[in-house]
Amino acid sequence: MAATGTEKQGSKAFYVTTPIYYVNDAPHLGHAYTTVAGDVLTRWHRQRGEKVWYLTGTDEHGQKIMRTAEANGVSPQEWCDKLVEEAWKPLWEHLDIANDDFIRTTEKRHTDRVQEFVQDLYDKGEIYKGGYEGPYCVGCEEYKLPADLIDGEGEYEGQKLCPIHKKPVELLKEENYFFKLSEYGPRLLEFYGANPGFIQPESARNEVVNFVKQGLQDLSISRSTFDWGVKVPWDEKHVIYVWIDALLNYATAVGYNENPAKFADTFPADVHLVGKDILRFHAIIWPAMLLANDLPVPGRVAANGWLMVGGEKMSKSNLTGIKPQDLTSHFGVDAYRWYFLRAIAFGQDGSFSWEDFTARYTSELANDYGNLASRVAAMVGKYFGGELPEATASDAAEKAVQEGLAKAAATADRLIGEELDFQGGILAIFDFVKQVNGYLTEQEPWKVAKDTSPEGQARLATILYTAADSLRGMAVLLNAVMPRTSEALWESLGAEASLGALADQPVQNAGVWGQLPVGSTVTKGAVLFPRLEEPKTTA
Ligand code: MSP
Repeated sequence: MAATGTEKQGSKAFYVTTPIYYVNDAPHLGHAYTTVAGDVLTRWHRQRGEKVWYLTGTDEHGQKIMRTAEANGVSPQEWCDKLVEEAWKPLWEHLDIANDDFIRTTEKRHTDRVQEFVQDLYDKGEIYKGGYEGPYCVGCEEYKLPADLIDGEGEYEGQKLCPIHKKPVELLKEENYFFKLSEYGPRLLEFYGANPGFIQPESARNEVVNFVKQGLQDLSISRSTFDWGVKVPWDEKHVIYVWIDALLNYATAVGYNENPAKFADTFPADVHLVGKDILRFHAIIWPAMLLANDLPVPGRVAANGWLMVGGEKMSKSNLTGIKPQDLTSHFGVDAYRWYFLRAIAFGQDGSFSWEDFTARYTSELANDYGNLASRVAAMVGKYFGGELPEATASDAAEKAVQEGLAKAAATADRLIGEELDFQGGILAIFDFVKQVNGYLTEQEPWKVAKDTSPEGQARLATILYTAADSLRGMAVLLNAVMPRTSEALWESLGAEASLGALADQPVQNAGVWGQLPVGSTVTKGAVLFPRLEEPKTTA
């Protein structure tokens, strides 16, 4: 966990969350996709000097977890403890996720507060007792509307299936407690209208608005046929529905009813990152719960698309065996963090293939970016003994590079920092990488070096300073996405000594030209993106 940058005190933190993931199994590429996106977003804001809070965690109650534990012959708590410690936390560490906290829904700091929240709603008359009968998907942990189900085929012939999990739903009939969600439709619609940016992307927003316009039903918020959950405080035969329990993590983790100062400084979230499958919970149920308890609603719910395998949402059952670690051991952690955000427009579905990753790694990371860094360091070493020379003979070509960096920095700051368009932001930075490569190809410093006149040497110095300060900008701009290689580049530019730590470089100033001091000691560090070992194929 890394907190960096110069934080403004006393202001509200820029608060970002991931979904808390079910721990019925180890994390897969889909979970890592959302978590890496949140990490890049929060690193970006930290590097703007903002106060930031990045939360992730695990969703540990409910029937799905209970059944998995039973099938493995251990208690649900033992199952969760093992998975969290052996699979989830280690993966986030491995992927350099700099979360500020990790909440588990079985922690007392959470369960006590969940009971208080639900008790408050009950006391306010927002909850009543009723009965419910309907199809339930344990995979989603959700009652489904009959109209949303699909007809089973093959082994499931004659049965109704969940459209997401493609598994039969179970018909449940229970006495439950209900939250008066149906009363919140008009307030929610008014809120969406007044806050057009609340749901991202636009298509997701339209889907939610149309759904709410059709009229909301009250929500069953307890279950009584099993006991793996937080007990309903006034009726201990019931446990609180796992989604109500889970959504409250965003409040309990930041001091709800426990630490008012922390809560005021953090809550509500500025961005809830969610997969599109769980958008309605976050964009409808969650704000309604908050409105019901007079708490502020979040700034934005941003839905990412799905990573697909064979035309289906990537899930535990159709993973084809690829783990995040299989990719990081081949491509490296930084390239992994970069690839999915670079290759898939955030909000759209996308699929992974070894071939696509290999092609992009080789052309964009190794050839365009990595080679640029090593060539420039090698030339400063060869022609100037590793001491960065001064640019005294700039002309239009240098001006174009300077403008290119300013443009890349401004575009990336807007797209990554504000619009969550990670692909667009990364592309803007890599367009600049291409521009600097083009500049070197045109300027041919290796030829200019042969001109030993003072003018020739001044041009050579100018070209190399221009390239080196461009690399300084790239290291700053790519630090949120690829912290390890950016750090290596920072070291190779000798920037730490004069400019200080990379994470302290304000990203919004990355485009200001000429920050790398003349005289910096430039060394040829390790290759940033080494040649890949034997090619792998997806088929
Ligand atoms: N526990 C609930 C969330 C509660 S949040 C209050 C849950 N957990 S989950 O383990 O199923 O993970 C859900 C999230 O993981 C998705 O919303 C998404 O962010 C991420 N992904 C899981 N599979 C994914 C893909 N195949 N593709 C992209 N993201 C995916 O739902």
